[in-house]
Amino acid sequence: MSTSVPIESKTATQPLLIGVPKETAAGEKRVATVPEVVEKLIKLGFSVAVQSGAGDAANCDDDSYRAAGARIVDSAADLWAGADIVFKVRPPSAEEVGLMREGGTLIGFVWPAQNPELMQQLAAKKATVLAIDSLPRTLSRAQKMDALTSQAGVAGYRAVIEAANAFGRFFNGQITAAGKVPPAKVFIAGAGVAGLAAIGTAVGLGAIVRANDTRAEVADQVVSLGGEFVKVDYEEEGSGGGGYAKVMSEGFQAAQRAMYAQQAREVDIIITTALIPGKPAPRLITAEMVKSMKPGSVIVDMAAEQGGNCELTEPGQAVVRHGVTIVGYTDLVSRLAKQSSTLYATNLFRLTEELCKSKDGTIDVAMDDDAIRGLTVIKEGSITWPPPPPKPAATPVAKPAAAAAAPAKKAHGHGAPSEPMAGRTLAIMFAVAAVCFWFVGAYAPAAFLGHFTVFVLACFVGYMVVWNVTPALHTPLMSVTNAISSIIAIGALVQIAPPLAGGAAPGSWIRWMAVVAIALTAVNMFGGFAVTQRMLSMFRK
Ligand code: NAI
Repeated sequence: MSTSVPIESKTATQPLLIGVPKETAAGEKRVATVPEVVEKLIKLGFSVAVQSGAGDAANCDDDSYRAAGARIVDSAADLWAGADIVFKVRPPSAEEVGLMREGGTLIGFVWPAQNPELMQQLAAKKATVLAIDSLPRTLSRAQKMDALTSQAGVAGYRAVIEAANAFGRFFNGQITAAGKVPPAKVFIAGAGVAGLAAIGTAVGLGAIVRANDTRAEVADQVVSLGGEFVKVDYEEEGSGGGGYAKVMSEGFQAAQRAMYAQQAREVDIIITTALIPGKPAPRLITAEMVKSMKPGSVIVDMAAEQGGNCELTEPGQAVVRHGVTIVGYTDLVSRLAKQSSTLYATNLFRLTEELCKSKDGTIDVAMDDDAIRGLTVIKEGSITWPPPPPKPAATPVAKPAAAAAAPAKKAHGHGAPSEPMAGRTLAIMFAVAAVCFWFVGAYAPAAFLGHFTVFVLACFVGYMVVWNVTPALHTPLMSVTNAISSIIAIGALVQIAPPLAGGAAPGSWIRWMAVVAIALTAVNMFGGFAVTQRMLSMFRK
């Protein structure tokens, strides 16, 4: 039984209260935080209140929140009025904004471009609003907060499960006493976040998976997940910047339609995820293509809410047309509510960590931080959306752009203070090193100088080699270096060997030390190579 604890008014010294209301949108089963995350929020210094029943549909009952240290509040009105910060999944309704305390903070999906009225209502409340959907996705630092990605990943997985549910056969090929079963063929249109998750899931179930996307750069990712990338026979750059697609030319679209028509005839399942942000979903699967599919085939149209990638999709429903089941569910994420809520809660927790670096239960919405600036759409009542164009991303692809942007920044006279600082520090370090080298050169004995030169060159070469290895491969690199360092075995072998003519035999204790050294380096050597081999095989499919 839930007991209501009134939210008392706070003094300035008390930590901020995070409130989690029950989602009110029809069919929404997710909740903005889960008990495991409540504990972490409390450790950050916040107190947490959850509306009674908020997590029921995501298998998180009131007792589990209470055990994690949250207060349970019976009514939405009490919760909204008492919370300093509200965590939500869906954009709030007008009634919910009405309940919000003036000057409060809201964190959740807001979609400012699609909801101008909501933005005005929140601004009138002098609210600070962090729209998780506006997070700059190209910032690698922001990935841990990227709820769009975590939710689309869940949706991609669920799309395959829905397809498997509606499909009358196995996904994997089998040879049984009762006969041979061919593997299902799955075609995925659009290999963004949801598409890639769908490819991974379908491959995991044993299907033959093919995929297409207008952005050629995703081909490698498709292949690395075990899929086959099917190209459109037409040369055109499909990237519109920021990791998103652009609308393609008529010529490309015609060539793409021909390829999709051929795939429709061949495959058993099509999962469509094609999307260009802010545009209606591209129509990729025509009624003719549906007609040409084998009876019992399945289409899952993930873009149903944006108008559908398939002409015959009915949003929110599963229908059968020309013998093909067309699934147009718009609540795929909610259909895995526990999983999606847990991932979403973790995204919000990571964001809260960024806002509360002092770990004292207060937040600082730092507008000079690229990630925070991007998602802050209203700051204390003033609308700050859209944000200024993002600075060039710190990804390898964006390196030339970053270099090109540097002089421009200087010209404006407000480059980040740390940049000239870093250059100056480097110059000082070089000057100090040069003086040290001169000192060593002038005073050290000649024999030392030879070894010293080799040492410095070894450091330089070692640094350059390691620097150019992809960070993901640093651990295998370490283990192989470990194996190579076992060159020490040569020293031990020299010590254990019989003396050369006229040489003195090593003492017996030196020989025993050499035996021990050989035994230990053998472990290091073979162990190092074995571990490297195992790690590298993790990267191979
Ligand atoms: P995303 O932007 O990461 O991926 C979309 C992909 O489609 C991009 O790789 C893009 O290059 C590609 N694309 C665009 N136009 C294309 C074309 N003409 N032909 C081939 N590929 C094309 O988006 P994300 O996050 O993967 O979401 C995919 C879709 O799933 C969206 O429509 C999204 O709204 C929807 N979605 C649906 C849910 C549901 O419950 N039904 C839940 C979550 C997402």
